[in-house]
Amino acid sequence: MQGFLGEERSGAVLNALQTHEGTCSRDYLAAARAVLDELVAIPDLIQALPLLRKQGGYARNLLAGNEAVSVWAMVWGEGATTCIHDHHCSCCFGMVAGVLTETWYRAIDASRAVPTEEHERQAGYVACMLPTGPNIHRMQNRGVGDAISIHIYGYDHHLHDSSVETEYTAVAG
Ligand SMILES: [Fe+2]
Repeated sequence: MQGFLGEERSGAVLNALQTHEGTCSRDYLAAARAVLDELVAIPDLIQALPLLRKQGGYARNLLAGNEAVSVWAMVWGEGATTCIHDHHCSCCFGMVAGVLTETWYRAIDASRAVPTEEHERQAGYVACMLPTGPNIHRMQNRGVGDAISIHIYGYDHHLHDSSVETEYTAVAG
């Protein structure tokens, strides 16, 4: 599927992400990290794309996708926040512009979690997460102006609405 990136770059991204070992494998995660490193290195090109924006929230823009992976540019308005969540698939992301605050949580039962760590993710930052288990987080734009990030998920966007497996409610640590 061709998205905002144009056929050639979109094809190259999907090609680089091809895997026979599955989208949680070490080789795949290394490939996703390499793709993100390349994309966060061209912020001007990403910012020039006609990306959807949502005041006070975040907007998802499909850049490329197939039956194994989907690649999104997310534009985070001031104050935008996700729920506290984990993922049903691998989740790799890279920061293109602005700053996002990522808070990590530890589940205390099936629906509640306590915060454990907080980090500011600056432009150029790239990370990969494996699904479920202890990988629970929330992303927020607490800064001034939009933030833009690129996300590569190991899911088919035709089959799933999002990467979220479970939503949690925060309780004091
Ligand atoms: Fe997430």
